[in-house]
Amino acid sequence: MTASVQGIDALTQAVRGQRPTAAMRVGIDAVAVSEIERSLASFGDRFVQRMFTPHEIHAAKGSAERLAARFAAKEAAIKAFDMPEAAIDWRNIELRSEASGRPSLHLYGPALASARALGTEVLSVSLAHEQGMAIAIVIGVPENNSPRANTASPKPRARKHGKSAVTNHKSQINQQGS
Ligand SMILES: CC(C)(COP(=O)(O)OP(=O)(O)OC[C@H]1O[C@@H](n2cnc3c(N)ncnc32)[C@H](O)[C@@H]1OP(=O)(O)O)[C@@H](O)C(=O)NCCC(=O)NCCS
Repeated sequence: MTASVQGIDALTQAVRGQRPTAAMRVGIDAVAVSEIERSLASFGDRFVQRMFTPHEIHAAKGSAERLAARFAAKEAAIKAFDMPEAAIDWRNIELRSEASGRPSLHLYGPALASARALGTEVLSVSLAHEQGMAIAIVIGVPENNSPRANTASPKPRARKHGKSAVTNHKSQINQQGS
């Protein structure tokens, strides 16, 4: 499709009160475990606390390899959603692990806003670590592909106790438990 046809498409959707169709997003990153080990040796707990959430620290069980995988997931999310790295608090991109070991990715604050600005919300993440390397891949799915979405312009979310939509989303995610 040419740029001009895309432009007409977006204009038509705007006139109909619809959002332009968002694309699927993908990001991938590889991190050498030795990089994390070096940061741990240089900065110790200060590095861990600045980069990782309590859930991530707990799930990593003190393994530099697991921390490397979680760091790779954050970098992969930054790539997938064009996040301004300098403005992102690393803990606003959180990798959670289910009881089965399956990981899931959760965004908060400005990181969530970056994904939403692209019309992307439903995330999928996969990790691997082997032989001194950790790899993560993150996929974002357009929110209008998610079962609870529709094509109409989004209704403003009800504000609870004066909180913003982003704050409400964050607390919903946090209610999912660890
Ligand atoms: C899941 C599995 C494929 C991981 O493969 P591996 O070669 O041991 O390890 P990799 O480095 O490739 O991947 C490790 C990552 O896989 C992810 N993982 C673990 N279990 C997972 C699952 N059920 N689904 C998706 N991803 C999973 C985790 O993110 C893990 O990283 P982490 O330990 O830092 O959180 C392997 O454990 C397996 O084959 N398990 C059998 C299936 C299973 O046990 N299912 C759970 C049923 S309760």
